Amino acid sequence: MAKNYEKLFSEIDIAGLTLKNRVALAPMTRISATDNGVVTERMEKYYTKFAKGGFSLIITEGIYPDEKYSQGYFNQPGIANDIQAASWKNVIESVHEQDSKIIAQLMHAGALSQGNIYQDSTIGPSAVKPKGKQLAFYKGEGEFALPKEMTLEDIQDVKNSFVNAAKNAKEVGFDGVEIHGANGYILDQFLTDYTNQRTDEYGGSTEKRVKLLVEVTQEIRKAVGEDFTVGIRISQAKVNDPHHKWAGKEKDAEIIFSSLANAGVDFIHITEPKANEAAFEGSSVTLVDLAKQYGQVPVIANGSLENPDKAEQMLATGHADLITLGKGALANQDWPNKVKHGEPLEEFNAQNHLLPIADVKEREM
Ligand SMILES: Cc1cc2nc3c(=O)[nH]c(=O)nc-3n(C[C@H](O)[C@H](O)[C@H](O)COP(=O)(O)O)c2cc1C
Repeated sequence: MAKNYEKLFSEIDIAGLTLKNRVALAPMTRISATDNGVVTERMEKYYTKFAKGGFSLIITEGIYPDEKYSQGYFNQPGIANDIQAASWKNVIESVHEQDSKIIAQLMHAGALSQGNIYQDSTIGPSAVKPKGKQLAFYKGEGEFALPKEMTLEDIQDVKNSFVNAAKNAKEVGFDGVEIHGANGYILDQFLTDYTNQRTDEYGGSTEKRVKLLVEVTQEIRKAVGEDFTVGIRISQAKVNDPHHKWAGKEKDAEIIFSSLANAGVDFIHITEPKANEAAFEGSSVTLVDLAKQYGQVPVIANGSLENPDKAEQMLATGHADLITLGKGALANQDWPNKVKHGEPLEEFNAQNHLLPIADVKEREM
């Protein structure tokens, strides 16, 4: 007998989108586009599977917004030019046919770029070599390159590329965009004290370190208008520094979330390794709680929520409006339908569930 997950399966109007339930697909890079960043038929099938499986909203993998420094990984899809943008249309139509919505995640890799067909070098807020090693999973090896410190012109270029990508996303029919401000990529590099050592208006205090995220949000909003959903993803952890915590703790959270809300975001998507655990040592509040408290906009929670009881609790008492699943969704592409019907869930297993889409056999798609 299926449990009654009342919150999980209730409809919600979030940020201008009507969603049939509160389970969305988390953004996941699958390096399965063509060498030129064009979407493939396999990707269309891949995204359609989740929509068919009951996810009310699909957030795409990180898509690169320009033909300069933004691409992070070879075979990552782009939305920088007309051909790339148009190649998303089949995915969007197919997801819509399943009564799901789809949002494009716009991602500029900055200093974490390890595969770019347009540039050999990388940029970042300061010339600080990223911690850790390139991601072998995405075909990188060795240390990251030392990035070039961005000029004000480079910063303007980055803003323009986000705006151009958001306009392309709107034009080809996406239901919204998510600005990737998390996980160590360029906007998070500005937000992070040790990667941003600038002494101009984009570095120093938390207010100054969040300035580029605010400006990108404001400029996208100006370009796409009020009736297009624009959200942002924020984290403390990074792909190359999973234990990072904000030094200013709750005060930082207040500055970051209130600034982004004032800039006009429709939602804040929080990702933490465990979304239901306290954000900082010595405190009991989660980052989701803080986003809700200081942002006062719908909050999406991500991180180890694949157990449906936990997911329901995050919605019922944890201040989240929607949850996203990453690994739990890869293991169960029909997670919402299975949970609704009380069917058993499969445990995530990297060997079975993490293959790039291009390497997955047709019958397993
Ligand atoms: C294969 C893979 C690719 C990912 N790519 C992205 C990405 O492109 N953009 C992003 O914001 N997060 C990315 N993530 C992080 C996920 O969105 C999510 O935050 C993470 O898997 C934790 O959620 P989970 O516990 O539900 O798996 C990726 C995760 C995985 C497993």
